[in-house]
Amino acid sequence: MKKILVATEKPFAKSAVEGIAGVLKEAGYELIMLENYKSAGDLIAAAAGADAMIVRSDLVTKDVIDSAPQLKIVVRAGAGYDNVDLAAASEKGVVVMNTPGQNSNAVAELALGMMVYMARNQFNGTPGTELRGKRLGLDACGNVGMHIARIARGFGMEVYGYDPFVEKSSMEDAGIKTVDSVGELFGVCNYMSLNIPANKDTIRTINFELLQRMSKPAVLVNTARKEVIDEDSLLRMFAERPDFKYVADVAPDCSAEIAEKYPGRYFFTPKKMGAQTSEANNNAGVAAAKQIVGFFEKDDRTFQVNK
Ligand code: 3PG
Repeated sequence: MKKILVATEKPFAKSAVEGIAGVLKEAGYELIMLENYKSAGDLIAAAAGADAMIVRSDLVTKDVIDSAPQLKIVVRAGAGYDNVDLAAASEKGVVVMNTPGQNSNAVAELALGMMVYMARNQFNGTPGTELRGKRLGLDACGNVGMHIARIARGFGMEVYGYDPFVEKSSMEDAGIKTVDSVGELFGVCNYMSLNIPANKDTIRTINFELLQRMSKPAVLVNTARKEVIDEDSLLRMFAERPDFKYVADVAPDCSAEIAEKYPGRYFFTPKKMGAQTSEANNNAGVAAAKQIVGFFEKDDRTFQVNK
């Protein structure tokens, strides 16, 4: 019987675990749960007997992969797979997949929620501003960007986008005004939403040169990864642009300095919250379980990311 390990330091909603269990039971597989674990050692020990793993942002390192001789597939129930050592997986012939689109509405709702929160001065009783009529830039228009565009247009925002990997026509069909470079995008907008993955081409690319182009008042919204921001630039932007605010899922490494010097101009989720809805957990968790069954039963490799 195939053993499928669900390893989630940040657990799924109960309904998602029930959904995963149902899919695996029907396939005749055994479900092993490792939730709320405290150390990499716990994950390494649990992985030892697994044929497949479902994870979230859990760190699937070379050590984890090496400790699992039976392992054939890892599915990251979510979009970003920067937490999985793809080279180590490929070296051992382990297939890695993600579940694109399954949690993106939840991430988009968080982005808009944080924007409203900052526009209304964190609900502190003083008059704030509205999102209607403001210019929002989408740095990448994949699944999350497209959901943000839909919701933001409902608020009456003017939505701009840049994404070299998406057809301009599909962005325009979604009501997004396209521009020709990321620099131009930052130059046009008050609100900037980062929807890019963290990889060698994006890490620390959001720098002062880009940030200082933002129109006043400026709000940077990061539901992507903290690593895409150059933190020296972030601190310089806070210091030189009193109109600048930053909201993020999750806190940057320099959060203590921001908290001390710039109260009222930031909000950071205490734990990564983008995908923390029952719906997103259900969608991504069940999709991951189905992808594992499809892989073992039909060699279906759709959504493989380490080709
Ligand atoms: C993702 O990449 O799918 C999101 O950042 C959600 O991550 P999480 O499943 O760890 O909450």
